[in-house]
Amino acid sequence: MKTPIRVAVTGAAGQIGYSLLFRIASGAMFGPDQPVILQLIEAPFEKALKALEGVAMELDDCAFPLLKGIVQTADPTVGFKGANWCLLVGAKPRGPGMERADLLKDNGKIFIEQGKVIDAVAAADARIAVVGNPANTNCMIAASQAKRLPPERFTAMVRLDQNRAQTQLAKKANVDLTEVKDIFIYGNHSPTMFPAYAHASIQGKLATRVITDLAWLQGPFLETVGKRGAAIIAARGASSAASAANALVDHVRSLVTPGAVHSVAVKSNGHYGFDANVWAGMPVRTTTAGSYEVITTYAMDDFAKSRLAATNKELVEERAFVADMIQ
Ligand code: NAD
Ligand code: LMR
Repeated sequence: MKTPIRVAVTGAAGQIGYSLLFRIASGAMFGPDQPVILQLIEAPFEKALKALEGVAMELDDCAFPLLKGIVQTADPTVGFKGANWCLLVGAKPRGPGMERADLLKDNGKIFIEQGKVIDAVAAADARIAVVGNPANTNCMIAASQAKRLPPERFTAMVRLDQNRAQTQLAKKANVDLTEVKDIFIYGNHSPTMFPAYAHASIQGKLATRVITDLAWLQGPFLETVGKRGAAIIAARGASSAASAANALVDHVRSLVTPGAVHSVAVKSNGHYGFDANVWAGMPVRTTTAGSYEVITTYAMDDFAKSRLAATNKELVEERAFVADMIQ
């Protein structure tokens, strides 16, 4: 039996938490032979902590063989202690008519504190994955507070966008979605994101040879993927939760699987024209469990370059908006 890993999850009693924790405890995130200890962190409010108690009871009632312990706390220093993975989900979701960036000032404060505490008490090998919106900039904020843990350990989730794009391409081409490969998301988890359709393949052929309707690829496709979160809020009255939890399972699973290639928002080193020190979606390949390299070899045409410039501009503006907070 392997040594259990400690997985801290914030917002554990929220919507995403309710879909996520059971998948982690069942082995979907770290594999069927990897025991886990769940360290569940909630906001310090009676209602949230009471709800967390209920979630913990349900986890107990599942009798998951891999679940070796549950910590319930409102104290981040307890919740992140010794954590090997810190999944930062807890934050306010947007409502109808809002953009994710509208959450920055409120949610940004959470990530200042959590970045500091994680840096102080998490395990030496800690990895951090940010879901709370606006995810890219919250990730940058958390990383800015860390002195011990290097910035590459901090990633933000754009995998939901990749999954959405894959499905849209499969539907348009009328193929099974497993036949759509190499569709990667660049930039911000916002409507400016760029799913680079020109690099995708469908049944082993370039996607643009299978879907020859460029107007659809540059119009409705980008629009549908970029605004899918808002469409779900409009339809459901609440932001995506099960699909977001599923994408986080995929995000972490791929990051611990050597050879996996997927879209992750990581600290830019100038690749694809992103400003240094913004966290931008790009394709990465897992090298060893938990470590990755950015794939820098994809060529961009003029249309792609203009989209990358637009999403970079938004990330730079978000960073400027919180500059006073992160000093
Ligand atoms: P929710 O409101 O259902 O749950 C959020 C939970 O976080 C609540 O239980 C709340 O008490 C808790 N919380 C708030 N502040 C906290 C803190 N400081 N520490 C610990 N817990 C705290 O929201 P949700 O639907 O689960 O969404 C959570 C976040 O994820 C939102 O910001 C949402 O916009 C974002 N999201 C991101 C993606 C993505 O693709 N990146 C997808 C879906 C949702
Ligand atoms: C999503 O993409 O579904 C989430 O980021 C929630 C939102 O606000 O759109």
